[in-house]
Amino acid sequence: MGRLSHSQAGVTVVTAMTTYLSGIQPSGLQHLGNYFGAIRQHIELQAEAGEHFYFIADYHALTTNRDPAALRECVRETAITYLALGLDPERATLFRQSDVPEVTELTWLLASVTGMGLLERAHSYKDKLAHGVKPNVGLFTYPILMAADILAYDSDVVPVGKDQVQHVEMAQDMAGYFNGAYGEVFTRPEYRLAGEAFTKVPGLDGQKMSKTYGNDLWIFESGKRLKKRVGKLVTDSRPPEEAKDPDEILPMDFLALFLDPGELEEWRGRVREGGAEAPGYGHMKMRVVEAMEEQFAPARARREELLADPGRVDEILEQGGQVAGNRAREVRERALAACGLR
Ligand code: TYM
Repeated sequence: MGRLSHSQAGVTVVTAMTTYLSGIQPSGLQHLGNYFGAIRQHIELQAEAGEHFYFIADYHALTTNRDPAALRECVRETAITYLALGLDPERATLFRQSDVPEVTELTWLLASVTGMGLLERAHSYKDKLAHGVKPNVGLFTYPILMAADILAYDSDVVPVGKDQVQHVEMAQDMAGYFNGAYGEVFTRPEYRLAGEAFTKVPGLDGQKMSKTYGNDLWIFESGKRLKKRVGKLVTDSRPPEEAKDPDEILPMDFLALFLDPGELEEWRGRVREGGAEAPGYGHMKMRVVEAMEEQFAPARARREELLADPGRVDEILEQGGQVAGNRAREVRERALAACGLR
């Protein structure tokens, strides 16, 4: 639980409040899954009272990235993406994970109380292996660094997509192992999912949208490239007039991301009924392109402004790193003292 201290007529008032935290990997351009599953929640949650920490997980990216210039570029692009989509640095602390090296130290403390079996059960690790990723020790211990990220700021709520739920549960377990051994040091975090249609956004091939699978659609894609990418949405060869179940049609899942409930229901009804009035797949894809162009137009314009002002972005990240570092150092001291290193 975060603590807010402020002075009121010379008396310090301490108020308990919720701390929200989440992270995103700078491994390529952010896609619609990242937006609808996570970033949109992060931006909406800024309106809630409490503290908000969002970071760019550059240490995590090292488990797969071997190109320093590309990593630097991706970190900047990720920060710009958040700011363009509406993250307000006055309300939320935006920072680079590696600006708070205390998390790597906490990783060791947590690793020392965590059994191998917990990590061996990680779906995300098994899934990456199944997709041909060559594992290194960092990839295997990834959930411990992620637990340290969460626990280092006394986070209460971690807004994520469904694929990260198990990792947050592992952070709960690790907090429990450490607290069980040394007393109440870490706060138990809870995950928070977006609405049902958004927790696992499908990719162009119908599997979960993921940079690893190459089936992703960049949030700011537009024009011809957007049409080309959306054209790749997997469909079948049934004619438009044939009645279909809208829940089994991939372009309809994409329309569900963008359309208001009234318009979505109208499309679904026409698909279900079939006949001369029913839309074809090409028609659905065109509406996806149009809706996506429209929804992200203001953010696309803000992104252009931010690209032209890299100094501003660096400044926001640096200030964010200082705020986050101050918080993490408090938790670090508590953890070191508890386990006998002080
Ligand atoms: P990452 O970078 O893979 O994804 C960032 C966020 O986007 C969500 N997401 C999705 N949501 C719905 N549908 C999808 N297809 C989809 N793809 C991705 C993810 O669930 C995530 O919320 N390990 C994390 C980064 C991280 C982190 C943390 C997160 C490091 N430390 C601490 C929370 C707390 C990751 O790789 O996310």
